[in-house]
Amino acid sequence: MSKSGAVNALSEEEARAELARLAELLTQANAAYHRDDAPEISDADYDAAKARNAEIEARFPALKRADSPSDVVGAAPADGFSKVTHVVRMLSLGNAFDPDDITEFDARIRKYLGFGPSAPLAYTAEPKIDGLSLSLRYEKGSLVQAATRGDGSVGENVTANARTITDIPTTLTDAPDVLEVRGEVYMSHADFDALNARQLEKGGKPFANPRNAAAGSLRQLDSEITRARPLRFFAYAWGDISAPLADSQSGAINKLARLGFQTNPLTELCDGPQQMLKHYAKIEQQRASLGYDIDGVVYKVDDLGLQQRLGFRSTTPRWAIAHKFPAELAWTTLEGIDIQVGRTGALSPVARLHPVTVGGVVVSNATLHNEDYIAGRDSKGAQIRDGKDIRVGDWVQVYRAGDVIPKIADVDMSKRPVGAQPYEFPLTCPDCGSDAIREEGDAVRRCTGGLICPAQAVEKLKYFVSRAAFDIEGLGAKQVEQFYLDGWIAEPADIFALQTRYGRGMQQLKNREGWGDKSADNLFAAIEEKRNIPLKRLIFSLGIRHVGEVAAADLARHFGTWPALADAIDTARSAAACHLQADAAEARERETAQREGRRARIKPVRDAQWVGLDQAAKSAWDDLTGIDGIGAAVAAALVTTFAQEAERASIDRLVDALNIEPDAAPAQAASPVSGKTVVFTGTLEKMTRAEAKARAEALGAKVSGSVSAKTDLLVAGPGAGSKAKKAADLGVETIDEDGWLALIESA
Ligand code: IVH
Repeated sequence: MSKSGAVNALSEEEARAELARLAELLTQANAAYHRDDAPEISDADYDAAKARNAEIEARFPALKRADSPSDVVGAAPADGFSKVTHVVRMLSLGNAFDPDDITEFDARIRKYLGFGPSAPLAYTAEPKIDGLSLSLRYEKGSLVQAATRGDGSVGENVTANARTITDIPTTLTDAPDVLEVRGEVYMSHADFDALNARQLEKGGKPFANPRNAAAGSLRQLDSEITRARPLRFFAYAWGDISAPLADSQSGAINKLARLGFQTNPLTELCDGPQQMLKHYAKIEQQRASLGYDIDGVVYKVDDLGLQQRLGFRSTTPRWAIAHKFPAELAWTTLEGIDIQVGRTGALSPVARLHPVTVGGVVVSNATLHNEDYIAGRDSKGAQIRDGKDIRVGDWVQVYRAGDVIPKIADVDMSKRPVGAQPYEFPLTCPDCGSDAIREEGDAVRRCTGGLICPAQAVEKLKYFVSRAAFDIEGLGAKQVEQFYLDGWIAEPADIFALQTRYGRGMQQLKNREGWGDKSADNLFAAIEEKRNIPLKRLIFSLGIRHVGEVAAADLARHFGTWPALADAIDTARSAAACHLQADAAEARERETAQREGRRARIKPVRDAQWVGLDQAAKSAWDDLTGIDGIGAAVAAALVTTFAQEAERASIDRLVDALNIEPDAAPAQAASPVSGKTVVFTGTLEKMTRAEAKARAEALGAKVSGSVSAKTDLLVAGPGAGSKAKKAADLGVETIDEDGWLALIESA
């Protein structure tokens, strides 16, 4: 490259200018390469410019440009397209990997709908196309907009490009006024090979696979380039629509075909799991000769009325699932085993592999889960890989299932090096040297160092600033790690004291390498902004075991404010101890009973642990574990964390530094049950519990498992027992199932 002074000699001003120069150079090079198919600089120069850009950004994180070339993946820069907000979110599909998953999928749906095992229930089965999804909006029969999926809520406007694809009609006759057709853009194998041959002829880079080629071609800023690329489109779903296409999935797909869309010829209607699996086998057999990439089979409930009832989980429909083909495999050698210490102290073994290509991606790490897994056992002591253990030096078979972290499928014992030793899992933390212990029933060995363990502290801090947590602009994993190493921050509360401590005086942020006046001010402002934090984010950010985003939101919704939550957790402390004792007593009783050849007497043994417990603790515990989605494991983790003195002091210091925004009930003013706490009890006859709960929540109600003074409404079916009595005692309004249906249908 021209002008290439050492990065560590650059001043902030020089770095800023250099980043601007590189952004321009790389943008131009991208355009020449991708848009004009006429590269202007060599690949080596391009790579060097990109590396230099990344190096400068690493040294001056605050100077990273909004249009940084590091964020440009594939063809055109993302911000070259305008954004489109999807009227109906574009969701993804849950995955299944083996036949059992499919019978379970069917059983789950039957259970949710309250269908018996022999009630008729049909599904469509069709190939899962390995391309990229596209939404096409037609108004009064004219194509008005095409958008990529993006993050599911907001995609990119690629209308001009979609118009160049011959499979996509630009006008429709006999279509609903508003019709948003969804499907997959893909490239055939033959077209892919021809395109790559042309690329090579021009001295350009070939695409790694047809999916990348399709994505790169659709996301061209110049639609003439898209026109020259042979893209195709299969329609398989719809979004916003002014009138239904049909009353079944198969009927709707037939209608789309009549409207002029390509629909997949291997789509078939099946009467249940057996036929679905048969069709899966048929599609898998034809996979190699189809002429385009598919990566599985998608099953969908055929009846659209039932699809509607089943609805969605947070990001996937309950009525559909993707049955993936088995993952690709590759053999390589295991060069070493590294131990990573996580924020909860978990020691996670990671395989360091000789790099190998698996399904088009170079893999050099794989997860080894835990010590049992390395030894060839699962968490219950049963054999995995026929009991073969994994040793450094072994030939191991690696696979990638979906986009997840690579895993190890097998070990080739015939190639085991002479003298290879069984792996000895460390009994102390590799980072702080504290004992690493495994508690009963825990598959994982954990460092006991707590707050004194640097690895745990750093991981906790990284988690604290991560996107779903405090998400402080300018304060990422790298900065946190550096501040921790320099002793500037040891715990989350310290972040909120940064400005007071390092805003002026002897040691100042702006004088640190990589920082300046502006970037320091920006960081302090970003931290100040996050001093106001919604309750659920705060709960999630604490990084307590088992408390993910969903549990955090459930807790916030239930308690509303921090003091209410903290108070409940503190009050429940002695009950949590009883619960843990009850678990231990149950385990002992099971063992004794097995030895003595009799049935275990679980209930009396468990109950005995609760005798003498004070009522307040018991009811706080019941309140916590009665929250839908919060089980004993979550409740116990909360109580244990709050009971640890050092841990608690650190949480209190954080809370003192914040303004916690109470959780507001979702704005659902129209619903008569929004913000209310509802309990279902007894037998429901018109819907299952799961459906009742999902519908109540969709209308903004909280569903709880137990009746308390906070309950607003009890829906009692026949056979309602103690809960109905308790509700009557507390004066809680009680209605029957018909009353409930009348209430929500008025919504
Ligand atoms: S149905 C509500 N059908 O797979 C979900 N998706 O993993 C509607 N895909 O984002 C999607 N072939 O891009 C459906 N026959 C098919 C599909 C298919 C490929 C893609 C689609 C989706 C992804 C989910």
